[in-house]
Amino acid sequence: MGLAEFTAELEAMRSAAATAFASAADVEALEAARVDFLGAKAGRLRAAQKGLGAVAKQDKPLAGKHFNEAKQAIEASFAAAQQRLASNGSAKRTGPAFDPTVPGTPLVLGHLHPITQTIDELTDIMGRLGFAVADGPEIEDEWHNFEALNIPLSHPARDPLENFYLSTAKAADPAGGKLKQAATSEPTLLLRSQTSTVQIRVMEKTPPPVRIIALGRVYRPDTADATHYPMFHQIEGLLIDRHVTMADLKTVLRLFASSYLGSDVRIRFRPSFFPFTEPSVEVDMSWNDGWLEFGGAGMVDPNVLRSVGYDPDEVSGFAFGLGVERLCMRRHAIDDIREFYKNDVRFLEQF
Ligand code: DAH
Repeated sequence: MGLAEFTAELEAMRSAAATAFASAADVEALEAARVDFLGAKAGRLRAAQKGLGAVAKQDKPLAGKHFNEAKQAIEASFAAAQQRLASNGSAKRTGPAFDPTVPGTPLVLGHLHPITQTIDELTDIMGRLGFAVADGPEIEDEWHNFEALNIPLSHPARDPLENFYLSTAKAADPAGGKLKQAATSEPTLLLRSQTSTVQIRVMEKTPPPVRIIALGRVYRPDTADATHYPMFHQIEGLLIDRHVTMADLKTVLRLFASSYLGSDVRIRFRPSFFPFTEPSVEVDMSWNDGWLEFGGAGMVDPNVLRSVGYDPDEVSGFAFGLGVERLCMRRHAIDDIREFYKNDVRFLEQF
């Protein structure tokens, strides 16, 4: 092959390569053009290099020089095309489609509501003191919510303004008549206003001794503010046995308080009145910042023991009822009970 012919072939290849690279619209097209011209095995440049052998010996140095120039020019136009695609974003797909070394997106795991967590912890503490968990319905009759607890019909705690009474068939029948008559034997129902109802339910079906706690929701038509909510939780405790005294009550509550709130907590009883206990006390707790009331307690009233068929001359017992939200709020320095029920994850996430 003559030098002129060889050089002309290189020149043609050079401009063809430049056009092909410059017109490649994406990474795939550019890669195809690269293989076509620069491919190590079957590329056109490689083929031209083989043609170098056919050039006359005296022309070889010049032919080699032309070949190198053409090769550099083609490589340069390829690099330029690569740059062009990289800068307009199409080169993103040059990397592996999936990079297993990139850290994954962390999964957001939910967790139990702070009140549920508190209930679990209080259950655990009282379990270590030998108290088993008892349960009762949230829709109660007046016997369990009031009468058996020594709260007579005349007591202000039974006022419709203090309770969520449920409308029964009796109240819901505007025409009166047959339905009304039939319904008069239906018990009046209400959302329980206290977990003390569970004391009655347990004692009715269990002979003494009894050692239980009940944790659950109670309902009162209070306007929501920082310390009130129309639904909240109580922990109720009941211990019935022979020779139970007020000292036992205080010991259990002190152990309970120090287990949940810390060993530096102090506990105080203030004389009070509840129809279902005699004597009755308010339970206050303190750190160094004054006293805070957590609920009520006392020795179970003989009338309550009689209402469930126990003999007050044989057995005695203590009972207490404390606010679960209040305990949790004190422990975590939460100053508004409404936070628990807004379902704002920024609040809930902290527990
Ligand atoms: N049931 C009372 C309330 O809701 C709290 C309470 C006081 C419970 C004294 C008791 C008790 O068991 O002995 O305000």
